[in-house]
Amino acid sequence: MNILLIGSGGREHALAWKLGQSPKAGKIYIAPGNGGTAQCGINVDIQDDDVRGIVDFAKSNDIGLVVPGPELPLTLGLADALKDAGIPCFGPSEYCAKLEGSKSFAKQVMLETGVPTAHFAMFRDADRALEFIEEKGVPLVVKADGLAAGKGVIICESKERARHAIEQIMVHKQFGTSGDKVIIEEMLVGEEVSFLAFSDGRNIKCMPSSQDHKAVGEGDTGANTGGMGAYSPAGLLPVDQYEIMAEEVITPIIRYMEAKGHPFVGVLYAGLMMTENGPGVLEYNVRFGDPECQPLMMRLDSDLLEIMLACTQGKLNEVDVKWRDDTALCVVMAAKGYPEAYPKGMRITGIERAENSVGVKVFQAGTKEEGGIVSSGGRVLGVTALGDDLAQSQERAYQAVDIVNFENSYVRRDIGDKGKKWENS
Ligand code: AMP
Ligand code: GLY
Repeated sequence: MNILLIGSGGREHALAWKLGQSPKAGKIYIAPGNGGTAQCGINVDIQDDDVRGIVDFAKSNDIGLVVPGPELPLTLGLADALKDAGIPCFGPSEYCAKLEGSKSFAKQVMLETGVPTAHFAMFRDADRALEFIEEKGVPLVVKADGLAAGKGVIICESKERARHAIEQIMVHKQFGTSGDKVIIEEMLVGEEVSFLAFSDGRNIKCMPSSQDHKAVGEGDTGANTGGMGAYSPAGLLPVDQYEIMAEEVITPIIRYMEAKGHPFVGVLYAGLMMTENGPGVLEYNVRFGDPECQPLMMRLDSDLLEIMLACTQGKLNEVDVKWRDDTALCVVMAAKGYPEAYPKGMRITGIERAENSVGVKVFQAGTKEEGGIVSSGGRVLGVTALGDDLAQSQERAYQAVDIVNFENSYVRRDIGDKGKKWENS
């Protein structure tokens, strides 16, 4: 079966790599792909927001399954357009994708389904939002309603910061129409964990817990990024709690969507804050996380294509979804300066040598093939390793990082440290 995978990050390289291991996989096309996906299949020059172009390509290339990596095409209705064309898609409809594309929609659904989340208020009017801030006081969190490339969430420790956030989002329209509405919510205190599940619209299968490192600097300092590294499992959410957590934060959403006549097919990702008073959902994503996907794919011990197809057929309960007991850890090698301005075009060496080490796979993100692999983005590589435990996977990943080389590279040296307090407990 021919597959069309959408996206160009480390997540997509990991998905292409895993899909390629399926005996059922035919040609794998990646639109637009990167230097790494080019080694797993054929990159096609179609951008991830080009819904028409994607559907046309799928129709004329005998595609049996489309797998959207990022949220953007899903929020633009790619799954619906593919459904009209009779092509299976592993990803939710535009209606379901609002869970990620509209924070007010997600909060409303959480309220209706009783999913634990921070208290919130929604505003269309800047003056009303400012009055609310005066009244409530800080700390609080201001969020642009729509997609904002990960920058639409502002933690406000002072009223001045909160007022400034409202001005930037609602008055100056820093994120365009994504700021037509804002959510102002209670700040939750605790540690974050990612909890993902496959869904066929009715049945779910949970993935092991994972933990991202969003801040650019060591010790979780500095600006937020797309993610500087991740590992799985995360001791913060141990395996004996997956089922309880699924009942609390995944199943209610799947049931809600089914009842609305919009069954959720694909990956539902709950970003959780583990607080003193229990878990709270910070956000839902309607796709795999990047970089959480990289360690998860290393640990997946079943056929990913079979799982995805089963999801599109409402038959997830008929397939095995098994995971290796090992820990997997991914260290993102970024270009110095990211998430602000950064240099591009650096030549990368040592990938093959790094991959000769036990348990190591180097997933590429912002790279392209240009007589060798060169950097083309902020997050360049996701050096990922399996190990018997967190310490071993961390040691292997960093040894591999030290074999790979490109000018102006930057890594956080503490990926996984947060998880060590849970080991042997
Ligand atoms: P979101 O896109 O909603 O996940 O927000 C991005 C990041 O902002 C999260 O990963 C958290 O680190 C932080 N954040 C979002 N909402 C809250 C909240 N209510 N309390 C504390 N931190 C939050
Ligand atoms: N790693 C966080 C995300 O993919 O949203």
